[in-house]
Amino acid sequence: MTDTTAGGPLPALALPVLDPALAERLVARMAQVEERLEREITSEADFITVACRHLLHAGGKRIRPLLVLMAAETGGSAAVPADAGDDPVLTAACVVELTHLASLYHDDVMDEALLRRGAQSSNARWDNHVSILAGDWLFSKSSELTADLGADAVRIQAQTFSRLVEGQILETLPAETAEGALEHHLRVIGGKTGSLIATSARYGAMFGGASDEVTAALTEYGEMVGVAFQLSDDILDIASDSVESGKTPGTDLREGVPTLPMLYALATDGPEDARLRELLGRPLTDDGEHAEALALLRAHPAMDQARSYVLDLARRASGRLDVLPAGPVRDALVAFADLIATRTT
Ligand code: FPP
Ligand code: MG
Repeated sequence: MTDTTAGGPLPALALPVLDPALAERLVARMAQVEERLEREITSEADFITVACRHLLHAGGKRIRPLLVLMAAETGGSAAVPADAGDDPVLTAACVVELTHLASLYHDDVMDEALLRRGAQSSNARWDNHVSILAGDWLFSKSSELTADLGADAVRIQAQTFSRLVEGQILETLPAETAEGALEHHLRVIGGKTGSLIATSARYGAMFGGASDEVTAALTEYGEMVGVAFQLSDDILDIASDSVESGKTPGTDLREGVPTLPMLYALATDGPEDARLRELLGRPLTDDGEHAEALALLRAHPAMDQARSYVLDLARRASGRLDVLPAGPVRDALVAFADLIATRTT
Protein backbone atom coordinates (compact mmCIF):
# COMPACT_ATOMS: atom_id res chain seq x y z
CA MET A 1 0.00 0.00 0.00
CA THR A 2 2.98 2.36 0.02
CA ASP A 3 5.03 4.03 -2.68
CA THR A 4 8.33 5.69 -2.04
CA THR A 5 8.53 7.96 -5.08
CA ALA A 6 8.20 11.16 -3.05
CA GLY A 7 11.26 10.40 -0.96
CA GLY A 8 9.18 9.28 2.01
CA PRO A 9 6.38 6.75 2.27
CA LEU A 10 3.34 7.79 0.27
CA PRO A 11 0.19 6.30 1.72
CA ALA A 12 -2.56 5.11 -0.56
CA LEU A 13 -5.65 7.30 -0.19
CA ALA A 14 -7.19 6.70 3.20
CA LEU A 15 -10.56 6.23 1.55
CA PRO A 16 -11.74 4.72 -1.70
CA VAL A 17 -13.00 7.62 -3.83
CA LEU A 18 -15.38 6.31 -6.45
CA ASP A 19 -15.09 9.17 -8.93
CA PRO A 20 -11.92 8.48 -10.98
CA ALA A 21 -11.15 12.13 -11.81
CA LEU A 22 -11.48 13.18 -8.17
CA ALA A 23 -9.41 10.20 -6.99
CA GLU A 24 -6.67 11.03 -9.47
CA ARG A 25 -6.56 14.65 -8.33
CA LEU A 26 -6.45 13.71 -4.67
CA VAL A 27 -3.68 11.16 -5.19
CA ALA A 28 -1.62 13.73 -7.13
CA ARG A 29 -2.17 16.37 -4.45
CA MET A 30 -1.36 13.97 -1.62
CA ALA A 31 1.95 13.23 -3.37
CA GLN A 32 2.65 16.98 -3.33
CA VAL A 33 1.77 17.11 0.37
CA GLU A 34 4.12 14.23 1.08
CA GLU A 35 6.97 15.87 -0.82
CA ARG A 36 6.42 19.18 0.96
CA LEU A 37 6.27 17.53 4.39
CA GLU A 38 9.54 15.84 3.70
CA ARG A 39 11.12 19.19 2.85
CA GLU A 40 9.61 20.99 5.83
CA ILE A 41 10.97 18.52 8.37
CA THR A 42 14.48 18.71 6.97
CA SER A 43 16.60 20.67 9.40
CA GLU A 44 20.17 21.93 9.20
CA ALA A 45 20.71 19.88 12.34
CA ASP A 46 20.72 16.30 11.06
CA PHE A 47 19.53 14.80 14.31
CA ILE A 48 16.34 16.87 14.24
CA THR A 49 15.61 15.57 10.76
CA VAL A 50 16.18 12.00 11.91
CA ALA A 51 13.99 12.43 14.99
CA CYS A 52 11.15 14.05 13.01
CA ARG A 53 11.36 11.63 10.09
CA HIS A 54 11.01 8.78 12.54
CA LEU A 55 7.23 9.17 12.94
CA LEU A 56 6.57 10.88 9.60
CA HIS A 57 7.93 7.83 7.81
CA ALA A 58 6.37 5.33 10.18
CA GLY A 59 3.10 5.84 8.31
CA GLY A 60 -0.09 7.46 9.47
CA LYS A 61 -3.31 7.76 7.56
CA ARG A 62 -2.88 11.45 6.68
CA ILE A 63 -6.59 12.00 7.18
CA ARG A 64 -6.17 15.67 8.13
CA PRO A 65 -4.38 16.77 4.92
CA LEU A 66 -6.74 14.58 2.90
CA LEU A 67 -9.67 16.39 4.48
CA VAL A 68 -8.09 19.77 3.62
CA LEU A 69 -7.84 18.68 -0.01
CA MET A 70 -11.37 17.28 -0.16
CA ALA A 71 -12.85 20.36 1.51
CA ALA A 72 -10.96 22.56 -0.97
CA GLU A 73 -12.79 20.74 -3.76
CA THR A 74 -16.06 22.27 -2.56
CA GLY A 75 -14.76 25.67 -3.69
CA GLY A 76 -14.64 24.50 -7.27
CA SER A 77 -10.91 25.00 -7.91
CA ALA A 78 -10.45 21.50 -9.24
CA ALA A 79 -7.12 21.72 -11.08
CA VAL A 80 -3.89 20.46 -9.55
CA PRO A 81 -1.57 23.52 -9.70
CA ALA A 82 1.64 22.70 -11.57
CA ASP A 83 3.62 24.90 -9.20
CA ALA A 84 2.71 23.68 -5.75
CA GLY A 85 5.19 26.16 -4.21
CA ASP A 86 2.76 28.82 -3.08
CA ASP A 87 -0.53 27.00 -3.20
CA PRO A 88 -2.33 27.84 0.07
CA VAL A 89 -4.38 24.63 0.04
CA LEU A 90 -1.22 22.57 -0.02
CA THR A 91 0.36 24.74 2.66
CA ALA A 92 -2.72 24.32 4.84
CA ALA A 93 -2.61 20.54 4.34
CA CYS A 94 0.99 20.53 5.60
CA VAL A 95 0.16 22.82 8.52
CA VAL A 96 -2.44 20.43 9.91
CA GLU A 97 -0.31 17.32 9.45
CA LEU A 98 2.72 18.94 11.08
CA THR A 99 0.59 20.11 14.00
CA HIS A 100 -0.79 16.61 14.37
CA LEU A 101 2.66 15.05 14.17
CA ALA A 102 3.94 17.50 16.80
CA SER A 103 1.10 16.54 19.11
CA LEU A 104 1.91 12.82 18.75
CA TYR A 105 5.49 13.37 19.96
CA HIS A 106 4.09 15.08 23.06
CA ASP A 107 1.23 12.64 23.52
CA ASP A 108 3.55 9.62 23.59
CA VAL A 109 5.50 11.24 26.41
CA MET A 110 2.32 11.83 28.40
CA ASP A 111 1.14 8.26 27.74
CA GLU A 112 4.61 6.74 28.25
CA ALA A 113 3.78 4.92 25.00
CA LEU A 114 6.17 2.36 23.54
CA LEU A 115 4.64 2.01 20.09
CA ARG A 116 3.31 4.49 17.55
CA ARG A 117 2.33 3.79 13.96
CA GLY A 118 3.74 0.29 14.33
CA ALA A 119 7.17 1.69 15.18
CA GLN A 120 8.91 2.38 18.46
CA SER A 121 7.65 5.68 19.86
CA SER A 122 10.31 8.40 19.83
CA ASN A 123 10.41 8.50 23.64
CA ALA A 124 11.16 4.78 23.64
CA ARG A 125 13.63 5.06 20.73
CA TRP A 126 15.42 8.06 22.30
CA ASP A 127 13.98 9.72 25.41
CA ASN A 128 11.37 12.20 26.62
CA HIS A 129 13.59 15.20 25.98
CA VAL A 130 14.00 14.31 22.32
CA SER A 131 10.25 13.73 21.93
CA ILE A 132 9.27 16.99 23.56
CA LEU A 133 11.78 19.04 21.61
CA ALA A 134 11.01 17.31 18.30
CA GLY A 135 7.31 18.08 18.96
CA ASP A 136 8.16 21.71 19.71
CA TRP A 137 10.28 21.97 16.58
CA LEU A 138 7.53 20.48 14.40
CA PHE A 139 4.99 22.83 15.90
CA SER A 140 7.27 25.80 15.17
CA LYS A 141 7.57 24.63 11.54
CA SER A 142 3.83 24.36 11.33
CA SER A 143 3.49 27.90 12.73
CA GLU A 144 6.01 29.25 10.24
CA LEU A 145 3.99 27.78 7.38
CA THR A 146 0.77 29.15 8.84
CA ALA A 147 2.23 32.65 8.67
CA ASP A 148 2.27 32.27 4.87
CA LEU A 149 -1.51 31.78 4.99
CA GLY A 150 -2.23 35.16 6.60
CA ALA A 151 -3.54 36.53 9.86
CA ASP A 152 -6.91 34.70 9.83
CA ALA A 153 -5.17 31.35 9.46
CA VAL A 154 -2.71 32.22 12.23
CA ARG A 155 -5.59 33.09 14.56
CA ILE A 156 -7.41 29.86 13.72
CA GLN A 157 -4.19 27.87 14.26
CA ALA A 158 -3.65 29.52 17.65
CA GLN A 159 -7.25 28.83 18.71
CA THR A 160 -6.90 25.24 17.54
CA PHE A 161 -3.70 24.84 19.53
CA SER A 162 -5.42 26.19 22.66
CA ARG A 163 -8.20 23.67 22.25
CA LEU A 164 -5.74 20.80 21.65
CA VAL A 165 -3.90 21.60 24.85
CA GLU A 166 -7.09 22.29 26.79
CA GLY A 167 -8.48 18.89 25.76
CA GLN A 168 -5.26 17.17 26.69
CA ILE A 169 -5.17 18.85 30.11
CA LEU A 170 -8.85 18.24 30.84
CA GLU A 171 -8.26 14.56 30.11
CA THR A 172 -6.00 14.39 33.14
CA LEU A 173 -8.79 15.74 35.38
CA PRO A 174 -11.89 13.85 36.50
CA ALA A 175 -15.39 15.04 35.62
CA GLU A 176 -16.84 17.14 38.41
CA THR A 177 -19.79 14.79 38.85
CA ALA A 178 -20.59 11.23 37.77
CA GLU A 179 -23.57 12.58 35.77
CA GLY A 180 -21.26 14.99 33.96
CA ALA A 181 -18.80 12.26 32.92
CA LEU A 182 -20.00 11.91 29.31
CA GLU A 183 -20.18 15.67 28.77
CA HIS A 184 -16.68 16.08 30.20
CA HIS A 185 -15.40 13.29 27.98
CA LEU A 186 -16.90 14.81 24.83
CA ARG A 187 -15.35 18.16 25.72
CA VAL A 188 -11.96 16.50 26.10
CA ILE A 189 -12.26 14.77 22.75
CA GLY A 190 -13.65 17.82 20.99
CA GLY A 191 -10.55 19.68 22.17
CA LYS A 192 -7.82 17.16 21.62
CA THR A 193 -9.05 15.76 18.28
CA GLY A 194 -12.19 17.51 17.00
CA SER A 195 -10.50 20.90 16.93
CA LEU A 196 -7.71 20.06 14.46
CA ILE A 197 -9.94 17.99 12.18
CA ALA A 198 -12.48 20.87 12.16
CA THR A 199 -9.64 23.23 11.25
CA SER A 200 -8.57 20.89 8.44
CA ALA A 201 -12.02 21.11 6.87
CA ARG A 202 -12.19 24.85 7.54
CA TYR A 203 -8.80 25.62 5.98
CA GLY A 204 -9.65 23.50 2.95
CA ALA A 205 -12.93 25.32 2.39
CA MET A 206 -11.39 28.76 3.06
CA PHE A 207 -8.40 28.36 0.78
CA GLY A 208 -10.32 26.40 -1.83
CA GLY A 209 -12.62 29.40 -2.27
CA ALA A 210 -15.84 28.02 -0.73
CA SER A 211 -18.58 30.39 0.47
CA ASP A 212 -18.87 31.36 4.15
CA GLU A 213 -21.95 29.14 4.46
CA VAL A 214 -20.12 26.08 3.10
CA THR A 215 -17.04 26.86 5.20
CA ALA A 216 -19.16 26.99 8.37
CA ALA A 217 -20.95 23.73 7.50
CA LEU A 218 -17.68 21.95 6.72
CA THR A 219 -16.15 23.19 9.98
CA GLU A 220 -19.04 21.63 11.90
CA TYR A 221 -18.75 18.46 9.84
CA GLY A 222 -15.00 18.32 10.60
CA GLU A 223 -15.55 18.78 14.33
CA MET A 224 -18.10 15.94 14.45
CA VAL A 225 -16.04 13.64 12.24
CA GLY A 226 -13.03 14.42 14.44
CA VAL A 227 -14.90 13.42 17.59
CA ALA A 228 -16.12 10.25 15.82
CA PHE A 229 -12.53 9.51 14.80
CA GLN A 230 -11.25 9.75 18.38
CA LEU A 231 -14.15 7.68 19.74
CA SER A 232 -13.37 4.98 17.12
CA ASP A 233 -9.71 5.18 18.10
CA ASP A 234 -10.65 4.59 21.72
CA ILE A 235 -12.86 1.63 20.79
CA LEU A 236 -9.96 0.18 18.77
CA ASP A 237 -7.66 0.68 21.75
CA ILE A 238 -9.80 -1.92 23.48
CA ALA A 239 -10.89 -4.12 20.58
CA SER A 240 -7.81 -4.51 18.40
CA ASP A 241 -4.40 -6.03 18.87
CA SER A 242 -1.19 -4.08 18.31
CA VAL A 243 -0.64 -5.56 14.84
CA GLU A 244 -3.83 -3.89 13.64
CA SER A 245 -3.51 -0.57 15.47
CA GLY A 246 0.27 -0.13 15.54
CA LYS A 247 -0.07 0.80 19.22
CA THR A 248 -0.13 -1.09 22.51
CA PRO A 249 -3.72 -2.26 23.18
CA GLY A 250 -5.51 -1.29 26.35
CA THR A 251 -3.35 1.80 26.97
CA ASP A 252 -6.31 3.89 28.13
CA LEU A 253 -7.40 1.13 30.52
CA ARG A 254 -3.94 0.82 31.95
CA GLU A 255 -3.66 4.56 32.50
CA GLY A 256 -7.19 4.80 33.92
CA VAL A 257 -8.15 7.27 31.14
CA PRO A 258 -11.92 6.93 30.74
CA THR A 259 -13.22 6.33 27.20
CA LEU A 260 -16.77 5.91 25.90
CA PRO A 261 -17.09 2.10 26.33
CA MET A 262 -15.69 2.44 29.86
CA LEU A 263 -18.16 5.21 30.69
CA TYR A 264 -21.06 3.09 29.43
CA ALA A 265 -19.84 0.08 31.43
CA LEU A 266 -19.38 2.23 34.54
CA ALA A 267 -22.94 3.50 34.20
CA THR A 268 -24.38 -0.04 34.57
CA ASP A 269 -25.67 -1.14 37.96
CA GLY A 270 -26.12 -4.92 37.62
CA PRO A 271 -24.17 -7.17 40.02
CA GLU A 272 -22.74 -9.09 37.00
CA ASP A 273 -20.71 -5.99 36.09
CA ALA A 274 -19.47 -5.26 39.60
CA ARG A 275 -15.97 -6.65 39.02
CA LEU A 276 -15.56 -4.71 35.75
CA ARG A 277 -16.77 -1.49 37.40
CA GLU A 278 -14.29 -2.01 40.22
CA LEU A 279 -11.40 -2.48 37.75
CA LEU A 280 -12.41 0.49 35.60
CA GLY A 281 -12.36 2.93 38.46
CA ARG A 282 -8.55 3.11 38.68
CA PRO A 283 -5.27 2.76 36.73
CA LEU A 284 -4.34 -0.91 36.20
CA THR A 285 -0.64 -1.45 36.74
CA ASP A 286 -1.00 -5.17 37.46
CA ASP A 287 -0.77 -7.18 34.20
CA GLY A 288 -3.29 -9.79 35.37
CA GLU A 289 -5.90 -7.18 36.29
CA HIS A 290 -5.27 -5.33 33.04
CA ALA A 291 -5.83 -8.49 30.96
CA GLU A 292 -8.96 -9.30 32.99
CA ALA A 293 -10.45 -5.83 32.49
CA LEU A 294 -9.63 -5.90 28.76
CA ALA A 295 -11.34 -9.29 28.32
CA LEU A 296 -14.42 -8.26 30.34
CA LEU A 297 -14.77 -4.97 28.46
CA ARG A 298 -14.27 -6.53 25.02
CA ALA A 299 -17.20 -8.86 25.70
CA HIS A 300 -19.43 -6.16 27.24
CA PRO A 301 -22.48 -4.64 25.45
CA ALA A 302 -20.94 -1.22 26.22
CA MET A 303 -18.70 -1.79 23.17
CA ASP A 304 -21.66 -1.99 20.78
CA GLN A 305 -23.32 0.91 22.55
CA ALA A 306 -20.21 3.00 21.89
CA ARG A 307 -20.05 1.85 18.25
CA SER A 308 -23.70 2.92 17.77
CA TYR A 309 -22.95 6.35 19.21
CA VAL A 310 -20.09 6.78 16.74
CA LEU A 311 -22.19 5.68 13.75
CA ASP A 312 -24.94 8.08 14.70
CA LEU A 313 -22.45 10.94 15.09
CA ALA A 314 -20.91 10.21 11.67
CA ARG A 315 -24.39 10.25 10.11
CA ARG A 316 -25.18 13.57 11.80
CA ALA A 317 -21.86 14.93 10.50
CA SER A 318 -22.80 13.94 6.95
CA GLY A 319 -26.10 15.75 7.44
CA ARG A 320 -24.10 19.00 7.60
CA LEU A 321 -23.11 18.39 3.97
CA ASP A 322 -26.64 19.10 2.74
CA VAL A 323 -25.46 22.60 1.81
CA LEU A 324 -23.26 21.05 -0.91
CA PRO A 325 -24.56 20.14 -4.35
CA ALA A 326 -24.96 16.40 -4.92
CA GLY A 327 -21.91 15.00 -6.68
CA PRO A 328 -18.58 13.24 -6.26
CA VAL A 329 -17.14 15.66 -3.70
CA ARG A 330 -20.13 15.39 -1.37
CA ASP A 331 -20.15 11.60 -1.87
CA ALA A 332 -16.46 11.42 -0.96
CA LEU A 333 -17.02 13.46 2.21
CA VAL A 334 -19.95 11.22 3.21
CA ALA A 335 -17.78 8.14 2.54
CA PHE A 336 -15.02 9.69 4.66
CA ALA A 337 -17.38 10.09 7.64
CA ASP A 338 -18.63 6.50 7.20
CA LEU A 339 -15.12 5.14 6.98
CA ILE A 340 -14.09 6.93 10.13
CA ALA A 341 -17.01 5.50 12.05
CA THR A 342 -16.38 1.93 10.89
CA ARG A 343 -12.59 1.85 10.65
CA THR A 344 -10.63 -1.09 11.93
CA THR A 345 -7.15 0.46 11.93
C1 FPP B 1 -3.85 11.44 20.99
O1 FPP B 1 -4.75 11.00 21.94
C2 FPP B 1 -3.51 12.89 21.27
C3 FPP B 1 -4.07 13.96 20.67
C4 FPP B 1 -5.10 13.79 19.65
C5 FPP B 1 -3.70 15.38 20.99
C6 FPP B 1 -2.47 15.57 21.82
C7 FPP B 1 -2.23 17.01 22.11
C8 FPP B 1 -1.19 17.47 22.83
C9 FPP B 1 -0.18 16.53 23.42
C10 FPP B 1 -1.03 18.94 23.04
C11 FPP B 1 0.29 19.43 22.47
C12 FPP B 1 0.13 19.72 21.04
C13 FPP B 1 1.09 20.18 20.15
C14 FPP B 1 0.65 20.59 18.80
C15 FPP B 1 2.55 20.31 20.43
P1 FPP B 1 -4.74 9.52 22.50
O2 FPP B 1 -3.60 9.36 23.43
O3 FPP B 1 -6.08 9.23 23.03
O4 FPP B 1 -4.56 8.67 21.17
P2 FPP B 1 -3.46 7.63 20.75
O5 FPP B 1 -4.12 6.31 20.95
O6 FPP B 1 -3.23 7.91 19.28
O7 FPP B 1 -2.25 7.84 21.57
MG1 MG C 1 -1.83 8.49 23.27
